[in-house]
Amino acid sequence: MASSATSLTPDQHKAQAAQKAVEYIQDGQVLGLGTGSTVHHFLTALGIRITQGLRVRGVPTSQATATYAKQLGIPLLDDNKPWDIDVAVDGADQVDPHLNLIKGGGGALLREKIVARAATQFIVIVDEAKQRPHLGLPFPLPVEILSFGWRTTQRHFENMGWPAPQREHSGQPFLTDNGHFILDVHIPIIDDPATLETTLLQLPGVVECGLFVNMASLVITGTDQGPRLDQAQDKSIP
Ligand code: A5P
Repeated sequence: MASSATSLTPDQHKAQAAQKAVEYIQDGQVLGLGTGSTVHHFLTALGIRITQGLRVRGVPTSQATATYAKQLGIPLLDDNKPWDIDVAVDGADQVDPHLNLIKGGGGALLREKIVARAATQFIVIVDEAKQRPHLGLPFPLPVEILSFGWRTTQRHFENMGWPAPQREHSGQPFLTDNGHFILDVHIPIIDDPATLETTLLQLPGVVECGLFVNMASLVITGTDQGPRLDQAQDKSIP
């Protein structure tokens, strides 16, 4: 007999997590607006609440997010003053059991980390496939590097035993919104993300890496059983 159970698609899991995140947004808040397909769902849902009267302002983490936010009528803050962000909402490529993240699959990791660090709360929205027992392969770690001397920077990773191909787009080097290159570093198992982040940030030529360690306040995961909430022990959520 055929089972009557239905499975949601990864995109439906993303939409579910995004819908749940919008419930945390309050009138008058300044929001960090992440980047990627899951955040696209969040922005769409936020746009509906804005048509219903919600007033928020946003700090986008990419040109793509800025463009969509403007279409939805979300006012964006400029760079004239430091940002005091109430809640940043963003996706992730991997989440480990300690709520550490790999981000940067879309190449926006540098702006995403600046914005998340400027936020009181950092809500991460993912589909179930992003939950992993540890960070690392099969997802390579994105690292944003200067184009100057990039082959030399790449060699640092290779000398540590990790292939680090340059990300490409349409046969050309992928350029971030900041004009930098991305290396996708193949690290089998990242068992100490904090130490690795410190090590990578000390390499000359590295601008930022996609490890987000001890930053998430709340991870919302879309599942077939409904959104699952994993809250960091040491961080409060409104
Ligand atoms: C953008 O650079 C990334 O950090 C994204 O947040 C991450 O890749 C998740 O993307 P999706 O929501 O598209 O899976």
